[in-house]
Amino acid sequence: MRKVNGRCIGLEVVSRLPRALKMSSKQGAPVAAVVEVHDLTRRFGALTAVDGVSFDIAPRETFALIGPNGAGKSTVMKMLTTMLPPTSGRATVAGYDVVRQPQDVRARIGYVPQQLSADGELTGYENMLLSARLYLIPAAERRARIAEALAMMDLTEAKDRRVQTYSGGMARRLEIAQSTLHRPAVLFMDEPTVGLDPSGRRAVWRHVQTLRDQIGAAVVFTTHYMDEVEEVCDRLALIHRGRLAAIGTPGDLRAREGSEATLDDVFTDLTETASRTGDGRK
Ligand SMILES: Nc1ncnc2c1ncn2[C@@H]1O[C@H](COP(=O)(O)OP(=O)(O)OP(=O)(O)O)[C@@H](O)[C@H]1O
Ligand SMILES: [Mg+2]
Repeated sequence: MRKVNGRCIGLEVVSRLPRALKMSSKQGAPVAAVVEVHDLTRRFGALTAVDGVSFDIAPRETFALIGPNGAGKSTVMKMLTTMLPPTSGRATVAGYDVVRQPQDVRARIGYVPQQLSADGELTGYENMLLSARLYLIPAAERRARIAEALAMMDLTEAKDRRVQTYSGGMARRLEIAQSTLHRPAVLFMDEPTVGLDPSGRRAVWRHVQTLRDQIGAAVVFTTHYMDEVEEVCDRLALIHRGRLAAIGTPGDLRAREGSEATLDDVFTDLTETASRTGDGRK
C-alpha cells in the first residue's frame, strides 16, 4: 500500500471553510485546522470516559485514534460528529462548534459508525438513494453522484444486489460511499476494517485514499490494527483511559521507544506504563 502524505491544503476544502477559522502553524507553514479539540471531556455518571483531550487535525490529513478497548475513542468520535454532547471542553469541525452549530458540522462531515449501518434488506443503490436524500443532494444530481461514488468504491456491478449478500468489505465500502456523497470536509470512520480479511482491509484503504484525494477530505479513523496505522495515517493519537497518552507521526512515536521499536511496542509500552503508574480514569 502506498504511504500517504496529504499535508497540502486543497483549495476545494479551504473554500468551504469559514473565514474565522483559526490558523495554526505546523512546520512553519500556516495550516487551517479542520478539526480542533480543546480539553474535551465526557462523563457517564461516575466514569470519565474522555478526560481533557486536546488536538488539531489539518485538512486532508489522515489521522488515527488508537487505544485499548474502552479507552474512549468512539466517545471522542461521537462528540466530534455531534452524536453525543461533551460534558465540558470544546471542539470545532470545519470551523463550526459541535455544540452550538451541530447542523453546520453535520453538513460537512461523513460518519461511518462502529456498528454496520447499511440496510441489508435494500440494495446498494437503494441505500445510496436514501443517503442522497438525507444529505439533500439535488434530485437532478443524484443519479450521477451515486454512480460516481459506487464506481469509486468498486461497487457498480453489485449495486442492484441486496446488501445482505455483500461481503463485510463490500458493505463497509458501501457505507463509506454513502457517507461521502455530499463531499464532506472530514470523513470519520470508527473501526472501518474490523472483522475484514487482509485483502478486504486493503481494498477499503485503497478506495478511501482515492476518495480522499478526489474530494479533498481529512480522514479520522479508529482501529486496533497497527499495520494500518503505520501504512495509511499521517499522524495518530493514542488514547488511554480517556486521556491523550501520545500524539505524532508513526515515526515520531516509534522514535520515542528506540530505533527497533514497532507501533505495537509503543502501544504496549504507553498503555502498560500508564496502568502501572495509576495514571488513568477517575
Ligand atoms: N452511553 C454510555 N453510557 C455509559 N458508559 C459508556 C457509554 N458509552 C461509552 N461508555 C463507556 O465509556 C468508556 C469508553 O468507551 P468507548 O466506546 O469510547 O471506548 P473505545 O475506545 O471506543 O473502545 P473499543 O475499542 O472497545 O471500541 C467505556 O468504559 C464505555 O463502557
Ligand atoms: Mg469504539
